[in-house]
Amino acid sequence: MFDQKRIVKSANWDVASRMAAPFISSREEVGELRDQLGAEGRKLVLTNGVFDLLHAGHVRYLKEARALGDCLVVAINADESVRELKGAGRPVYPAEERAEILRALRAVDRVVVFGEKRASRTIEIIRPHIYTKGGDYTPDSLIDEEKQLLDRLGIDVRILSLVPGKSTSATLRHLERGGGAQEGPGRRIAILGSGRGSNCEAILDAIASERLDAEPVLVISDIADARILSLARDRGVSALHVDPGSERPGRLSAAALKEIVDRLEAARVDLVILAGFMRIVREPLLSAFEGRILNIHPSLLPLHPGRDACRSAIEAGDSESGCTVHIVDAGIDTGPILDQARVPVLPGDTPDTLQERIHRAEHELYPRTVGEMLDRLEREG
Ligand code: GRF
Repeated sequence: MFDQKRIVKSANWDVASRMAAPFISSREEVGELRDQLGAEGRKLVLTNGVFDLLHAGHVRYLKEARALGDCLVVAINADESVRELKGAGRPVYPAEERAEILRALRAVDRVVVFGEKRASRTIEIIRPHIYTKGGDYTPDSLIDEEKQLLDRLGIDVRILSLVPGKSTSATLRHLERGGGAQEGPGRRIAILGSGRGSNCEAILDAIASERLDAEPVLVISDIADARILSLARDRGVSALHVDPGSERPGRLSAAALKEIVDRLEAARVDLVILAGFMRIVREPLLSAFEGRILNIHPSLLPLHPGRDACRSAIEAGDSESGCTVHIVDAGIDTGPILDQARVPVLPGDTPDTLQERIHRAEHELYPRTVGEMLDRLEREG
């Protein structure tokens, strides 16, 4: 159990006190510090987490959090609650060492340790001016108790974007597989799309929240102002427009195909993911990534390949439709099927309402199938 008695009282807030503060402060003294800062018109920022194996993603996140105010307090879970939350193998380091490491960062002004599973009690005692969480959270994923508390105390909640592909679980898995900074995790993905990129978003979200172990290294679009590109940039993923040339609609020029292959190879991509990419994938791209290009299609293939799959399902009077993830081959929506999800076709459905229902299923199915495919590629070497 975390021993509150080992906490040494810290002095007032200034640079010298920051240096003199112990590795671990108590929540109560940080609450006092908050009042003092408030009286001076300054802001205390609070964030919380496990922080048991720091990586560049943490450091960037903490820097951003610190920049929101004048003093950053990091609340870390006590060892017992980490074990409950993350399993018997965690935390990698005990709370005292995690606090020591965090306090060595310039961005971190105080560290407190809390024994409860949730941060509510800590928020209540500290009453930060700003409470911040990583980008895998949304205001909706905060539990009701936390939301009400934050509202009641008038705390400003900020969600900061996480660095894609950087997570403690990914680092631990990388080490288990033998590690090696040069080799990378072997789970480098690129996403190609032409439109709004909701599947790309679902995949990046799954990575940020550690449901999918993958490193997104590149997003490519044939449309210069496609949302998928701005979405990628906003999340710190390289985004590239490739001019498709003046081929017939749905085709890519030889130069465009070559540029895509060159860029994917330069980025050492392991798996190429098509997410609403409205061009046919031809040679030399097919051979360069043979068996390593996935597509998602809004029907239960082999039914309704090609465009307008939702309209075709309704016109055919199908009572059920869905989506399919398959490996891309030289045909249109013909490659080996990896997985499918089913959704009902409801009376009165239009292509748009059916498409929306299928989209929701796609956002579950695609990240999961991508993870399974990466596992398989890794196993097969
Ligand atoms: C999805 O419905 C997918 O099945 C199809 O194109 C659509 C892409 O949507 N291949 P988004 O760009 O991912 O939102």
